[in-house]
Amino acid sequence: MTPAVIAMPGNEPLADALADTLALERLAVTVRRFPDGESYVRMDSAVKGRAAFIVCTLDRPDDKLVPLFLLAAAVREAGATSVGLVAPYLAYMRQDIRFRPGETLSAQHVAAWISSHFDWLVTVDPHLHRISNLSQIYRIPSSVVHAAQRVAAWVQTQVHQPVLIGPDEESAQWVSEVARQAHAPCVVLTKTRHGDREVEVSIPNVEHWHAHTPVLVDDIISTAHTMMETVGHLRRMGLAAPVCVAVHAVFAQNAFDDLRAAGAGLIVSCNTIAHSTNRISMTADIAAAVREHLPSAAD
Ligand code: R5P
Repeated sequence: MTPAVIAMPGNEPLADALADTLALERLAVTVRRFPDGESYVRMDSAVKGRAAFIVCTLDRPDDKLVPLFLLAAAVREAGATSVGLVAPYLAYMRQDIRFRPGETLSAQHVAAWISSHFDWLVTVDPHLHRISNLSQIYRIPSSVVHAAQRVAAWVQTQVHQPVLIGPDEESAQWVSEVARQAHAPCVVLTKTRHGDREVEVSIPNVEHWHAHTPVLVDDIISTAHTMMETVGHLRRMGLAAPVCVAVHAVFAQNAFDDLRAAGAGLIVSCNTIAHSTNRISMTADIAAAVREHLPSAAD
């Protein structure tokens, strides 16, 4: 039977693109809130006997996880043979250590919850830092799609004489790979975080790069303070307005406007979270990863 794709609200464009690319059927569901704020979900189409997956990117996750889990349960109870999750942005990956006594390892708990509701997971560049592999916290098969090649292709075609700059050591893994694939030089900076919104970045000899266009690459822009600090330093050193590239455009509160006001040039992102900065499509790569988890026509 044709596998089925289901979109959580807001994820319809990616779900439709995956349905087109993989020749799947998108099934209708209802997901809404009761007046008291609780979630209501309903399968509106037949899924019995079919492999299914739900598309739900997980920025602002606290509003999404309860209806997502209820929907996964509804799909399974309606007779789906398997229920996968396509979450182009995977939340809670930065809470991977107890920074202070009494904190909990949120990454592990959220991974356990997701693992108990789904049979497989596809995501794009999760924030792997102290956790080096999703299998350390997820009990289900998972596929990680990497954005470096697409970002590099964008930089190569859209930026004149780029120098790739990683705002911190954690970004080194993305930025060095993007630089390698874009055949561009690369500098990784040192970041000290003093609080949620206080970030200090130090920069080696930028005078080497005055003729270049700085391209800042990071996996996530959330408050944008990491990028803003770097943009500020680069501008003060007389470099051109940096192009800012994020895989995941989380942009908390006024972060996008703040980043522009801080002196950023073009701001672009991959389409893992719908945002006006989306310029780099990961859809074909996500579709290829999803295909690996679906039964073949011969099954
Ligand atoms: C940090 O570990 C990540 O790679 C990003 O640098 C960070 O998440 C960006 O956060 P913000 O935009 O809040 O500075």
